[in-house]
Amino acid sequence: MTQELVDMSTSAFHGDPHEAYAELRRTGPVRRAKLPSGVHAWVVTRYEDARRALADPRLSKRSSSMVSDQPVGGSRTAGAAPASAMSEGIGAAISQHMLAVDPPDHTRLRRLVSAAFTTRRIEALRPRIERIATDLLDRLDGQDRADLIDDFAFPLPIQVICELLGLPMEDRDDFREWSNAVVAGSEAGPNLASAIESMVKYIHALLAERRRTPGDDLLSGLIQVRDAEDRLTEDELSSMVFLLLVAGHETTVNLIGNGVYSLLTHPGEWDRLRADRELLPSAIEEFLRYDGPLKTSTFRIANEELEIGGVTIPAGDPVIIGLLSANRDAEQFLAADELRLDRVQSPGHLAFGHGIHYCLGAPLARLEGQIAFTALLDRYPGLRLAVPPEELSWRPGLLLRGLEGLPVRW
Ligand code: HEM
Repeated sequence: MTQELVDMSTSAFHGDPHEAYAELRRTGPVRRAKLPSGVHAWVVTRYEDARRALADPRLSKRSSSMVSDQPVGGSRTAGAAPASAMSEGIGAAISQHMLAVDPPDHTRLRRLVSAAFTTRRIEALRPRIERIATDLLDRLDGQDRADLIDDFAFPLPIQVICELLGLPMEDRDDFREWSNAVVAGSEAGPNLASAIESMVKYIHALLAERRRTPGDDLLSGLIQVRDAEDRLTEDELSSMVFLLLVAGHETTVNLIGNGVYSLLTHPGEWDRLRADRELLPSAIEEFLRYDGPLKTSTFRIANEELEIGGVTIPAGDPVIIGLLSANRDAEQFLAADELRLDRVQSPGHLAFGHGIHYCLGAPLARLEGQIAFTALLDRYPGLRLAVPPEELSWRPGLLLRGLEGLPVRW
């Protein structure tokens, strides 16, 4: 049976993707879709299929760069930036990273930084991250309202990743603008090519500066691995910096933003979590499941004909996995559309992916989430939305699920 092409560029997938995804899970859980960029890809929406697909080595990263939407997902075409420009010219400097390649390159690149992201190493950052959170909230003293995204959820993770890498903070507003354009992919329109160019220039300048004055940070360590040991190419080095910065930038902001939004739109839940902090670890997992930071995975390509959920995917076709959808699948989660802060479930949500590309930054994101919510719950017993929920807008693009702004009062 041939089914109609799903149009994922519609506002249905943008404003309320949960509805649109629920319909797909019901009517055709593995479907061909037209993405906002115009590219056609298969979309996998049920939990079981999604989990299996994420770990399937036949779904490769190798040539996904030629079709996808976002450089962060291994894209080298992105509407405004033609494929050749991305894979050969300037784009190679940001697209040769672990999330865009298969083993053995993936294994080699991931191993170079994995020691810096273990739970133990990340836990050691706790006091510093708590300080950053406190300082950000101190700046709001004397006010009774703020934009939680601009004033807190965004600057916290970016400051943390900049410190971890050893980057200066001055350029972070520029960086945010380029990063937003890059993850919005083709929907950023003509800004995309110039954002990519600015970002590459910025990363090259950073590397040159750190080569002149090395420190004991992650960036200097990576430069050492490149220059003294030749274990990665120059493009792989700049792409690694790009991936860590963008991943550290664009996701945790939505864990905090979407989590606060979920609590504030469920009467009583803010108070409940304030009163029972032991719920915090399971609450963080529930925020990730209920309305996670990413609507879809990055792209894969079927490197041979294969079957997902009874549907044949021809060799060479692109596939994306609907993470937000899998996490609301009622076959896997009891009362999947309800926010339950004490939900404990194994295997759990797929917000961090699954398989070899499972999020390297998961321990860091969880720690930042715990610290951010603790700081907010401690300071603002009466936190509430400053505008009706219908007035909030969600960021465009296929990849991210996040609010443009979150005006709150206390
Ligand atoms: C990969 C989600 C925070 C670094 C991924 C993937 C997901 C994800 C779903 C896999 C994508 C795919 O398979 O297509 C998230 C979420 C975060 C978060 C929801 C916040 C709540 C971070 C942070 C970092 C980070 C803070 C730190 C730098 C990475 C890296 C990869 C990755 C390097 C690629 C891993 C690989 O290819 O082996 N993330 N991420 N992430 N994430 Fe995260």
